[in-house]
Amino acid sequence: MEYLEFQYLKDPKRALKEEAIERHTNEVLSRQASRAVTGVVTIPVVVHVVYNTTAENVSAAQIQSQIDVLNADFRRLNADASNTPSMFLGVASDPQIQFCLASVDPSGNPTSGITRTSTTRTSFGTNDQVKFNSSGGKDAWPAANYLNLWVCDISGGILGYAQFPGGSASTDGVVIDYQYFGTIGTATVPFHLGRTATHEVGHWLNLRHIWGDGGCTVDDFVSDTPVAGSANYTGNPCAFPGPNTCNTGAGDQPDMFQNYMDYSDDECMNLFTAGQTARMRALFEPGGARASLLTSPACGTATPPTCTDGIQNGDETGVDCGGSSCQPCPCSASPLTLTITFDNYPEETSWTVKNSSNTTVASGGTYGSQPDGSTINIPITLGTAGNYTFTINDSYGDGICCSYGSGSYTLKDANNSVIATGGQFGTSQSTAFCVGGGGGPTCTDGIQNGDETGVDCGGANCPVCPTCNDGIQNGDETGVDCGGSCAPCGGGGCNYVTLNSQNFESGWGIWADGGTDCQRSSADAAYANSGTYCVRLRDNTNSSVMTTSNQNLSSYDELTVQFSYITVSFDNSNEDFWLQISTNGGSSYTTVGDFNYNVQFTNNNRGTATVVIPGPFTTNTRLRIRCDASADDDRLYIDDVVITGCLNGARTAGPGQARGEELSEFVKNINLFPNPAFDQMTVTYTMEQAAQVRLTVTDLSGKTISRQEFMADMGDQRTQLDVSNLPQGIYLMHLATAEGSVVRKFVVGR
Ligand code: ARG
Ligand code: ZN
Ligand code: CA
Repeated sequence: MEYLEFQYLKDPKRALKEEAIERHTNEVLSRQASRAVTGVVTIPVVVHVVYNTTAENVSAAQIQSQIDVLNADFRRLNADASNTPSMFLGVASDPQIQFCLASVDPSGNPTSGITRTSTTRTSFGTNDQVKFNSSGGKDAWPAANYLNLWVCDISGGILGYAQFPGGSASTDGVVIDYQYFGTIGTATVPFHLGRTATHEVGHWLNLRHIWGDGGCTVDDFVSDTPVAGSANYTGNPCAFPGPNTCNTGAGDQPDMFQNYMDYSDDECMNLFTAGQTARMRALFEPGGARASLLTSPACGTATPPTCTDGIQNGDETGVDCGGSSCQPCPCSASPLTLTITFDNYPEETSWTVKNSSNTTVASGGTYGSQPDGSTINIPITLGTAGNYTFTINDSYGDGICCSYGSGSYTLKDANNSVIATGGQFGTSQSTAFCVGGGGGPTCTDGIQNGDETGVDCGGANCPVCPTCNDGIQNGDETGVDCGGSCAPCGGGGCNYVTLNSQNFESGWGIWADGGTDCQRSSADAAYANSGTYCVRLRDNTNSSVMTTSNQNLSSYDELTVQFSYITVSFDNSNEDFWLQISTNGGSSYTTVGDFNYNVQFTNNNRGTATVVIPGPFTTNTRLRIRCDASADDDRLYIDDVVITGCLNGARTAGPGQARGEELSEFVKNINLFPNPAFDQMTVTYTMEQAAQVRLTVTDLSGKTISRQEFMADMGDQRTQLDVSNLPQGIYLMHLATAEGSVVRKFVVGR
């Protein structure tokens, strides 16, 4: 309860969520019969062991012993169910809840369901620090799919603590002190039977203490647990009847100290009641706080890495090639380039390329005439397809690094793929490779080569590149047209774009306002942005319409149009304007929003307006803003029209997150080369207008690896990306401005 108080303080909405859950529970309980969820409910569990001493690093067997206790207690299969006094047998209940150690981790990989984190912290207390990597603990796995169970040294006499339903996902779960966890190993009498976890999981499933954390007038929201006035700390021999802290008159019963939600010793506990079962199970009904666990994939079978997942995994030696189970990697393409940086003894360095009959077909060195530490590039053309061996030699036998200078060598093929690289060796170092003969660029080599327009797609010979709106789960998408390099899957926010006046194509009012965007008096300053233009409408017949240009909004499911700033001038009466939509390319418009503004510039009045237009839309959807046509020369100033669209069901996380390609006409001709890259990659692109650009590199899971921001001029631009520190693999480059973002995939080779 102290911990719950702490949550109320931290989050003002915490109490409201609790009320909502309570309402939902009562609604479920008031439905006499019908339940959507019947039978056994299985909850995937991840156990996070956070240890400082070896004793705290509890064994897998001890963890299993705890899971076994939960599975017994929440199925009333506990051996000591026979100790439940006959007075309570009528209400003793099987909650029909089971627990499985997770077999699939949040990334879809196989897991034991146990994480182990070594910490420098000697104890944690109840302030959630065990739940975050950043405070010496371990981050929660997604609470929608896992019961997070942390095991650590809590100290302070606390056996465990739990978060009730309705709290933050990042702290959701239960924490058990390692001395009161499971039934073997460090489990300590009299809390050695795993009932601390039973008790805390009870809380996590919304159960209160049977004494309601108050006297005889406070309840636990369950009617079949006898009213109790305080906690019982009953121990061996658990004699019935125990204390009777509240006398409720006729039918009065002694305290149910045997209930898991009291504070008795483990050996005295043996039941949940039917009322507790109903309360817990309400959470799994539709709309319930724990219902998402019913569809958790966490106890299913992990999908193993494959030879076509576009990831260098398993023992693959290239992306989806090589190793024991994938196809051999494609042969190299001639000509090769050998780059040697010499140590302080170039006169000792030489190399050869031999064919499969051990005949030297190319060679070089020694290099006594080269300056110490210098670098040379040597083209090597191998005309015949076949198997070869490259050997670099050092006549002194100490390689070219690192005793006398730091030399190195790299042999790359015509596609810039690294064949061999090194520097530290003895007398020689050899690498086998093949050339041509079905090698060369292919549509499955994970490299953008030949005339491919994407990685292994596009161009004359490879399949059409997947897109984020072809309605097919392809490329690295994790759902249909979402995830991977497309917009993230799942609910939440939407794509958005800000339309400024330059996005409107007709009308009187592309008004150059000198950088004060629609600011008509100093009182407007807070509403004005720094744009150069303002949208201005004037209500006479030939200047009353503003139409969005260049913005094909058809791929959105729904559009939210927000006018963040409106003022009216030259008017003493109501001013009217409409938001209209055309779904046929612009000839006929339907009114979707009608705004009536009795605001006057002279009074420094201003307003905002929002309208939601449900889709779907057909091709060439455009929006326009239309003024009334009363021709009395009123003027309406509107700026920062923010359009939020949900792209093909693939809702993104909203402003600041990845947005749809459809709105990216602002930047064109994006090229990355070389691809694959090794040290430096060049990004070239054409800006439609000068803009602040953010260039972010992420891995396929979306994790940010690097980010740079700069002002890019209009016209052809070039930016350098240092990839020398990235592990080999596939990455995404996101190029974003305030108008939208584009994503390109690239490969780092090593
Ligand atoms: N949160 C309670 C405490 O730390 C847990 C009590 C568990 N009781 C038990 N017999 N295992 O005191
Ligand atoms: Zn408790
Ligand atoms: Ca693979």
